[in-house]
Amino acid sequence: MNNLTPMMKQYLEIKNEYKDCILLFRLGDFYETFFDDAKITSEILQITLTQRNGHPMAGIPYHALDNYLKKLLESGLKVAVCEQVEDPATAKGIVKREVTKILTPGTVVEENMIDENNRYSLLIYSLKGEEYIFVVFDFSTGELYIDTFNYSENEILDFISSYSFVQILISKNLKTLRNKIKNIQSNIYIEELDEWYFNKNFEDIIKESYEIVNIDVLNLNKNELLSLGAVFKYLEITQKQKITHFSFPKRFKNTNNMVLDSTTILNLGLLPNKENKGKTLYDIIKLTKTSMGARMLQQWISKPLIDKNLIEERLEIVELFRNDKLIMEEMKEYLSSIRDIERISSRIALLRATPRDLVALKTSLDALPYINELLTILGLETLDEFHNLKELLNKAIVDEPTTQVGTGKVIRKGYNDELDQYKEIFENSNLYLKEIESKEKQKTGISNLKVSRNKIYGFYIEVTKANIDKIPQYYIRKQTLVNSERFITQELRELEEKYAIAEKKIDELEKKIFNNLIVELQKYIKDLKKLSNKISKIDILRGFAEVSIKNKYIRPKFNEENFIIIDGRHPVVEQFTDNFIPNTINLTKENRFVILTGPNMSGKSTYLRQIGIISIMAQIGSYVPARKAEIPVLKNIFTRIGAKDDVVSGKSTFLVEMSEVSTILNNADENSLILLDEVGRGTGTIDGISVAWATSEYIYQVLKSYTIFATHYMELTMLNDFYDGIINKRVKVLETESGIIFLHKIEDGISDKSYGIEVAKLAGLPGEVVDRAKEIMEEISNKTEFENKLKSMKKIKQKRFKRNENQLKLF
Ligand SMILES: Nc1ncnc2c1ncn2[C@@H]1O[C@H](COP(=O)(O)OP(=O)(O)OP(=O)(O)O)[C@@H](O)[C@H]1O
Ligand SMILES: [Mg+2]
Repeated sequence: MNNLTPMMKQYLEIKNEYKDCILLFRLGDFYETFFDDAKITSEILQITLTQRNGHPMAGIPYHALDNYLKKLLESGLKVAVCEQVEDPATAKGIVKREVTKILTPGTVVEENMIDENNRYSLLIYSLKGEEYIFVVFDFSTGELYIDTFNYSENEILDFISSYSFVQILISKNLKTLRNKIKNIQSNIYIEELDEWYFNKNFEDIIKESYEIVNIDVLNLNKNELLSLGAVFKYLEITQKQKITHFSFPKRFKNTNNMVLDSTTILNLGLLPNKENKGKTLYDIIKLTKTSMGARMLQQWISKPLIDKNLIEERLEIVELFRNDKLIMEEMKEYLSSIRDIERISSRIALLRATPRDLVALKTSLDALPYINELLTILGLETLDEFHNLKELLNKAIVDEPTTQVGTGKVIRKGYNDELDQYKEIFENSNLYLKEIESKEKQKTGISNLKVSRNKIYGFYIEVTKANIDKIPQYYIRKQTLVNSERFITQELRELEEKYAIAEKKIDELEKKIFNNLIVELQKYIKDLKKLSNKISKIDILRGFAEVSIKNKYIRPKFNEENFIIIDGRHPVVEQFTDNFIPNTINLTKENRFVILTGPNMSGKSTYLRQIGIISIMAQIGSYVPARKAEIPVLKNIFTRIGAKDDVVSGKSTFLVEMSEVSTILNNADENSLILLDEVGRGTGTIDGISVAWATSEYIYQVLKSYTIFATHYMELTMLNDFYDGIINKRVKVLETESGIIFLHKIEDGISDKSYGIEVAKLAGLPGEVVDRAKEIMEEISNKTEFENKLKSMKKIKQKRFKRNENQLKLF
């Protein structure tokens, strides 16, 4: 390594500062990587690994940077881009180079590198591992949440696996947690933050970012402030600039929304993740036309409203659109021309907006008057039309600018006189050249003489070998080709110089003007974000109207007594079956607990889920799949559905199940809906029944939540003998000669058989095995024994649970 060139020394110095990054080192028209970086990138990017003085090297062309960056980030790498920061032509010695940006999966904002979905990053901090601070932020939109949780490590892992984070920042002291996260989510980019991120107080950075004088307005406790400071510091370091586009921190837990836990979001199939793409509530009701609308819909679904007035407000707008289908359709067209204003404003704030962003912004603003016309007809509040901004953009930017600034094809004529002058000189070049050409032809009498320009050699007069003796004295030889010679003249040389200066000036001026323009646009950011929010809302609600017509949904009504859904349907399952059977639920304050029995495959889980989903749809302001819905505004929905193993954290199926049940028992109340599917399944029958029985009593007596409990334990149907308000329902099946037919219809009563063997047969178990199972069943299902068991159940005494409230108050 002693024989290093000065440039390689420069490389190593810079690389030394960015050890954790892949360093892309600008060298002429390429970004080069060296040593181990070269080995890694050549493998990921499928580019050739070459050698330079015996060192591995791999390069990518500068114009394809974004494409390659995207792949490197997707592979979970951190990338530093090192640019030449002075003009090589004028540099003395080695060109000065600096890292101008550091990219991680959570900090990309470039339009062509990300899709419309949210890109949430998570920062986890804990001083002693008792309380955890979570900061969740989307750098591309500026949205930010913060809260303190008393989670166990396992709950944190659950939290992480139910959201699709693109990046996790974790304080260095949480090593074991970090390793566990790495184990379950090997594809997430994780970065450990040194202790000093949290020890030093970065309040000033926070204040500066939010432009606030007093930190108290944020309402955060000490550790939350430290965590927020760490986020801002991290972003400032990696982005090499002040971060000003973040919203004030919002709480996860708040009083305006239902906070659905991650298991419920997963169990009910509300939002897409890797496994259930295309088959979630979101996929069905997302008829949004804007990217911001799509992102906001995801937030709405995970946080339904609990204020009846706010819900009705949304439903009202849906109804307005439904009542005027023409406007609904027309609005769709205008919304389609609205681009991602939210992210464009973020890029403006970060000085990373491109000429195309500004055109996209302009196109979007152009649609506003049309949207407003429709809103006026509907009697809705109109949007600010941003006349000044639109005028500015119109004046400053051409209709179809180049991606690169500095080409002279970005800023519109008339915006800046100096730039126009240089552009004129430049644009007239061809005209001048033609003039000189005809002049020289005349003077020399060479009819095929050509005057042109090329990038490397500049201007020249080209004369074929045959005519070479006719050239005048003042032609200066420049280059010899096979069949011709190229010359330059004094006049041409002067022109060439002028053009070179013009070209350089255009480049400099246009970049400067563009930058100034972006800075000027920064004053609109806050208002643009507000606009983006309003448009998203219109977009979502318009979509709700369309989907409600398409799928025949009705407007839900809210009341405080009853939970009635007549002929409800599962919005997702009904899309995938030809003949979906609607089902009714009818609960009152007195009869609010259902034990649901029925054979395997009959539709118990579907029924359970559809009730939860319909409630959620109603509370985000959507119409619902039913003939009639009169339901309470729920504060909470809890679910315990399906068996889930947690191999990594070493919890058994049954333990997972019980910890979920315990969360429910500790948090639900009379404004909650509880959906229990086969609780107690993961253990021995007797234990299972006993736990399920006691759980049901507790919910019924103490929590008083609306509850549906699907089970295969026939014994539980006897709860009805003890408690009038616990009612039995079953799924109807038809037994025929050739087997059973599932009718998927819920009715009052108790299912008499499990039909487990029938289902096994349907699933294709070998006939012999099925027959043998029947034989065994005959033997062990001894009727008298079962009746004895029922009798002994009747001996159970009614239990009166009491609330622990008073006890709690003493402490
Ligand atoms: N109301 C319905 N109308 C039409 N098809 C239905 C209906 N409900 C369920 N199905 C169909 O039956 C299948 C099984 O339903 P589901 O999973 O709800 O049964 P289950 O009773 O919970 O079964 P298991 O006891 O095995 O858990 C569904 O995937 C769906 O295709
Ligand atoms: Mg089921």
